[in-house]
Amino acid sequence: MSTTFQLDTATSRAHPTPSPLRRLSIPAIRQRKLDGVTARPIVMLTAYTARQAQLLDAHCDLILCGDSLGQVIYGLPTSLQVTVEMMIAHGAAVVRGSYHAAVVVDLPFGSYEGSPEQAFATASQVMAETGASAVKLEGGAVMADTVAFLSSRGIPVMGHVGLTPQAVNTLGGYNARGRSQLEADKIVSDAQAIDQAGAFAIVIEGVVEPIAIEATRAVACPTIGIGASAQCDGQVLVTEDMMGMFERVPRFVKRYGEIAGLISSAAGQYADEVRARTFPTVDQTYQPK
Ligand code: KIV
Repeated sequence: MSTTFQLDTATSRAHPTPSPLRRLSIPAIRQRKLDGVTARPIVMLTAYTARQAQLLDAHCDLILCGDSLGQVIYGLPTSLQVTVEMMIAHGAAVVRGSYHAAVVVDLPFGSYEGSPEQAFATASQVMAETGASAVKLEGGAVMADTVAFLSSRGIPVMGHVGLTPQAVNTLGGYNARGRSQLEADKIVSDAQAIDQAGAFAIVIEGVVEPIAIEATRAVACPTIGIGASAQCDGQVLVTEDMMGMFERVPRFVKRYGEIAGLISSAAGQYADEVRARTFPTVDQTYQPK
């Protein structure tokens, strides 16, 4: 059944018909993995706008307002230029557009790595001003104290290990991680460190499959794979990637749509009709009564 929305202009919320399910809680997501088994894999997609969130909401357990919005929305070269203000503006829109999925907002580069106190100040602002259910931050063992600090103070944290895009300058690129024994061991021990520190879930990005599987088995909390393995406890993709918004996509992306072609051909048809003065017609113009 399709969902329709009625915009409440006073609150900017779009009320769906039929009525939505209750929003999933973070403990409910965490408990999807019990004794190492996740019977129903966790579905996560990114969203940056209210309308996008409305369309994804019923299908997802988690919606991530990721700092990938730097490249996807703002055309920035990396996520390093993304600010807390950008994350709050888009995170709040995603929360307004969703009712069912739990919304996670990325903490941007430079806003949390300095100390647990800095992370708490940023994360509490993000939570208060967006209404999100949790934050995500990048890094393994080095962030374990911060993960423990936040989660023991009411802020659920999703970790992110393996290929961590905010560290592109130290990693030297976006290549898959875990090909050497040293890297593989570090990915598994990083995941264990933030799991033990209290992360409710961990994104494993761009990691060779056997190491993604080993890390998934080594932690109690669910892992969410991207360029990792179907044996992770869930999956995430950038929605624009899987919808075919860009010509070039990483090899781990499966295209489930061809949205760029649709936009381009609709714009082309509109342009032709404007130039031929065949748009607007009587159907799209106001006539005197
Ligand atoms: O920023 C983002 O969209 C992400 C996902 C790719 C996991 O971190």
